[in-house]
Amino acid sequence: MSASIDRAFLRVAVLYALVGLCGGIFMSASHDHALMPAHAHWLLLGWVSMFLYGLFYKTHPAAKTKLATAQFWLANIGAILLCVAVGFIVTGHPKAEPGAAIGSLFVLAGMILFAIQVFRGTKA
Ligand code: HEM
Ligand code: HEM
Repeated sequence: MSASIDRAFLRVAVLYALVGLCGGIFMSASHDHALMPAHAHWLLLGWVSMFLYGLFYKTHPAAKTKLATAQFWLANIGAILLCVAVGFIVTGHPKAEPGAAIGSLFVLAGMILFAIQVFRGTKA
């Protein structure tokens, strides 16, 4: 999977965009903006971040290693867990908080791996 990690990131990014945009349209149509934090993070943690990761791997093919695959799974499991849990929390289900907490730690772990990739990939 490492060899096609750029494609995986770019493809998954547009799926997050579709989820986030549907949430935005649902909020606008219903005049109920409760889902705003979930909408914002589906789009920023999902669509924007995943697409940026994909572009990085496209332009730095040497970084397409097992570390990239690990980063893919941490970023995606974290983003989905965080966004779904936030959606529950803001609609009156505070029991979902541990899901958001675990998701955010996955997101952070993924970003630590990505930071290593960027520092390695941008060595002079
Ligand atoms: C179909 C397109 C979209 C619709 C209908 C939509 C709708 C909305 C609505 C209704 C809100 C709540 C506003 C409020 O209560 O103050 C909101 C907030 C937000 N949206 Fe969207 N949105 C769309 C696309 C996007 C995209 C593409 C992004 C980012 C890539 C985005 C990022 C955000 C962010 C960050 C907020 C929170 C803003 C704040 O903190 O006040 N939205 N959106
Ligand atoms: C570990 C990952 C993250 C966590 C735990 C987190 C948590 C939060 C929290 C608690 C808020 C305040 C929500 C509220 O007051 O309703 C927030 C807002 C916001 N975050 Fe994040 N965030 C994360 C990642 C990101 C990333 C990567 C971006 C952008 C690329 C981002 C963009 C925003 C924006 C634009 C807002 C204001 C819109 C809103 O209130 O929903 N966040 N975030």
